[in-house]
Amino acid sequence: MKTTNLCFVSDLSQHLGETVCLRGWMRAMRSSGKIRFVEFRDGTSTCQCTVEASKPDAFAALEGCGQESSLTLTGTVREEARSPGGVELSIETVEVHQQAMEYPISRKEHGVDFLMQHRHLWLRSPRQGAILRIRHRVITAAREFFDQRGFTLIDTPIFQPGAAEGAGTLFELDYFGSPAYLAQTGQLYLETAAMALGKVYCFGPTFRAEKSKTRRHLTEFWMIEPEIAFVELEDLQELSEEFLLHVVASVLTHQQAELEELGRDVGALERIQAPFPRLTYSEAVELLHSPELHAKLETELAEAQDAVAQVKEELSQKEQQVSQVTKAWKVEKFNQEIQELQDQIRELDRWIAHQPAHIEDAKTFQWGKDFGGDEETILSRQFESPLIVSEYPREVKAFYMKQNPDDPRTVRNLDVLAPEGYGEIIGGSQREDDLDTLLARMREEGMDPEPYQWYLDLRRYGSVPHGGFGLGIERTVSWICGLKHIRETIPFPRLMGKMTP
Ligand code: 4AD
Ligand code: MG
Repeated sequence: MKTTNLCFVSDLSQHLGETVCLRGWMRAMRSSGKIRFVEFRDGTSTCQCTVEASKPDAFAALEGCGQESSLTLTGTVREEARSPGGVELSIETVEVHQQAMEYPISRKEHGVDFLMQHRHLWLRSPRQGAILRIRHRVITAAREFFDQRGFTLIDTPIFQPGAAEGAGTLFELDYFGSPAYLAQTGQLYLETAAMALGKVYCFGPTFRAEKSKTRRHLTEFWMIEPEIAFVELEDLQELSEEFLLHVVASVLTHQQAELEELGRDVGALERIQAPFPRLTYSEAVELLHSPELHAKLETELAEAQDAVAQVKEELSQKEQQVSQVTKAWKVEKFNQEIQELQDQIRELDRWIAHQPAHIEDAKTFQWGKDFGGDEETILSRQFESPLIVSEYPREVKAFYMKQNPDDPRTVRNLDVLAPEGYGEIIGGSQREDDLDTLLARMREEGMDPEPYQWYLDLRRYGSVPHGGFGLGIERTVSWICGLKHIRETIPFPRLMGKMTP
């Protein structure tokens, strides 16, 4: 389809006074006397287009076009202060590709279940577009970081013969009559490549049969994993810090408009700085047990109770006001505000209901247990920058992690917890490089070393200290976008009990 003067909405302001052609979709249309106002989107951005009844063909062509009708519009670009973006298109001609009728997603609020069932259409909303662009930026920045530092990209297999992150979350499938599993991580293969090339990374989909319905778990997610020869835990802490700073800076540089669309508190991202706080697991447990922390959590609870009382007051005022207005658009505006306040109250109530359990969890947490979502939320809310927690108890971590020479109860690992309560976004470790220690650990875990002989060979032929980590793309996007749930961070989320569309 060849079109002259083809232009994209995002470039419109560079074509003032020119006649251009836009291709895209109608987001909305309203009429005011002899003018039709079309809110138009083309994937790059949204703009206002107008047509007057004095252009009878174009005016009539829009008759009966519902939301998401596909159109080619030709017209003149004009300055218009009242229009979003400061420019608008005065339409001369309209070509209708398809008249859409009764688009299921209207501008009023829809429940999440409904939107998830219509995910294939929901992607067209400005909010979802903003999230997808930020996701793209996170991935681009993450790859750029390793590419600029001389890492080689290695593609690791998705069909794998065994577990790396625990048998409990494996997806098993039939591989020509033998069991095979979907990759939980590329790491074990990546270690082989690190012994060949020194600095490597992999980036691909990974799978976990997570039987948990939380706001942090997907069954299919994307992970970027660096792996490096001749590094120790401290090097990995530093690398993870530089890496996250790079990713956040890149989003702040390139995606301001998207962050604004999402209403993200950009200050929280701007305040992130090196050095990130570092705690050992044992220090983190001490923090959870500290009376100062408990007092702080109690204060937060009291503040949330005050806040909910205030929002309720505001709500009752709004409800009175809405009964007094008559204009349809005003009623709609008020109703939308009321809905937002109700959401806020629900959210705060949920938080208030949960906080006593949070406090109790912190007080009674026992050394040796893994941190769950609650502990991670508490810990990561205490710092403005991501928190690096190291040296967890051996029992709760994967078999390949290097035993701590100073304390055999712990391993030389790191988890990086994103601030504002988001929790773990990076998990990694120095790897066990001693053959006998690794074999002993595998037996302890009840693992048969036989299928792992290739992996054990790395400890037989030129073993060196090495390690790496994995960053979950969706958890990172969720945090950077300030989302409440991971499901919006990937075009088609796969969750326990959810795999359509
Ligand atoms: O901590 P994990 O399990 O670490 C590994 O897989 C290592 N093999 C990585 C390495 O050292 N090369 O997972 C790493 C990250 C987590 O921090 C989290 O961001 C993400 O992957 N992740 C998930 N994201 C969404 N849904 C899930 N079910 C996830 N499980 C892990
Ligand atoms: Mg982990």
